[in-house]
Amino acid sequence: MVYYYKDYAFKIPAGIYEPKEDSALLADNLRIEKGDYVLDMGCGSGIQAIVASRKAEKVLAADINPHAIDAARQNAQMNKAENIEYRISDLFENINLDEKFDQILFNPPYLPSEEKDLEALAWAGGTTGRETIDRFIVDAPKHLTCRGRIQLLVSSLNHVDDVLKALREKELEAEIVAREKIWFEELYLILASSKKKMKSI
Ligand SMILES: C[S@@+](CC[C@H](N)C(=O)[O-])C[C@H]1O[C@@H](n2cnc3c(N)ncnc32)[C@H](O)[C@@H]1O
Repeated sequence: MVYYYKDYAFKIPAGIYEPKEDSALLADNLRIEKGDYVLDMGCGSGIQAIVASRKAEKVLAADINPHAIDAARQNAQMNKAENIEYRISDLFENINLDEKFDQILFNPPYLPSEEKDLEALAWAGGTTGRETIDRFIVDAPKHLTCRGRIQLLVSSLNHVDDVLKALREKELEAEIVAREKIWFEELYLILASSKKKMKSI
């Protein structure tokens, strides 16, 4: 199928996450500045990486699923986005500690499910739905530049206050910057930034 977002078109092969309300909420509210180096974690079809690439200097699109990387690469070509690199990685496993980003975007798998096959990993976030989110929060702060920010999508199913607390325990300022109610849940976009940077402004 083909998914249209603004003036972009994305081919979504079978088994790759078809962009939904969560994808659109993140894409609609992306905060990217000129010159930014952006990491799109869990790139799926490439929607966030491709939208971000219009403003960013460079984007790294990462996903655990090699078929998602192929889809993102093809969609980037189709949308004439040339400043994107691609990497297969289980979260930060294949991202060196010296690779730092101005923006780290993540629309994670967040539904409670223990399914582990590659296709299910698009939405299955472990028993509580928080497994991948919690692992991400441990490592993402280590990959931020001094002005770096995390833009993380979560659901009411993930207990957003606990996610905010976990980010604050990593010495980040974290707040909800956008939200949307859908039929069985509410979606939240969290923006988390280094406290040091906020104080020095
Ligand atoms: C909800 S989809 C989001 C796709 C796309 N970014 C969007 O906004 O529509 C989650 C994506 O995260 C990827 N993913 C799941 N677990 C991952 C992990 N441990 N490391 C990297 N990517 C992962 C999935 O393969 C899937 O492409």
